Amino acid sequence: MKVVFSIGGIYFADAARINALAAVLDELAKSCTIYVVTGGGVIARDSITIARDLGANEACCDYIGIAVTRINAKLLITALKDAYPEPFHDYKDAAAVQEDKKIAVMGGVSPGHTTDAVAAILAEYVGADRLIVVTSVDGVYDADPHIYQDAKKYDRLTAKELVALTMKEVLKAGSRIVIDPVAAKIIERSGIETIVIDGRTPRNITGAVHGDHHGTVIT
Ligand code: UTP
Repeated sequence: MKVVFSIGGIYFADAARINALAAVLDELAKSCTIYVVTGGGVIARDSITIARDLGANEACCDYIGIAVTRINAKLLITALKDAYPEPFHDYKDAAAVQEDKKIAVMGGVSPGHTTDAVAAILAEYVGADRLIVVTSVDGVYDADPHIYQDAKKYDRLTAKELVALTMKEVLKAGSRIVIDPVAAKIIERSGIETIVIDGRTPRNITGAVHGDHHGTVIT
């Protein structure tokens, strides 16, 4: 099985979390071909805020976010047992390495979207069986559950419904959205099965690969 993971930046805040994530991915790599796209998290958002305060435009802010996602990619590579030594910057390079047991890791690629879109494009390009979006919420909601206590979680969504939901969001550098609208459109056109899970417990990541999870399935 070929699986692409989009890992939210929250997992790169300390060595313990990175090690726990790396252990799960190393284990999965024994039976699956694994690609990982790393997010930028708080450091990306804070750096983007500073750049915006300094007068940077949105594309410049996006490049700052991309730089942070690549630092996180390198941190994860450092913890993995058998990964390619540098983050890939291009889909074709990452795809060319498939079929051996090494894990391919990459951060952002170009301005205008988040690493969820990178993971969706990579999943489409390599013909992955599944895209797993690992976040700090337990699925896709009809509103931000951190803000709205009555937000409703979806167990299942069509890609078309996901697109309609995400199109309401504002896409700025550093935006906080569970899946960005560009990623949603790629998921829709590629038809790739996508699962959004809460990865704060690393065991959930293994569960999602085997279809055992409490997240949202996008079909
Ligand atoms: P993230 O992928 O980390 O944003 O990229 P996110 O998904 O909203 O945040 P977390 O990590 O899951 O919490 C951080 C920022 O980097 C830029 C965007 O500005 C994005 O908001 N970025 C990232 C790009 O412009 N292009 C990319 O390919 C990736």
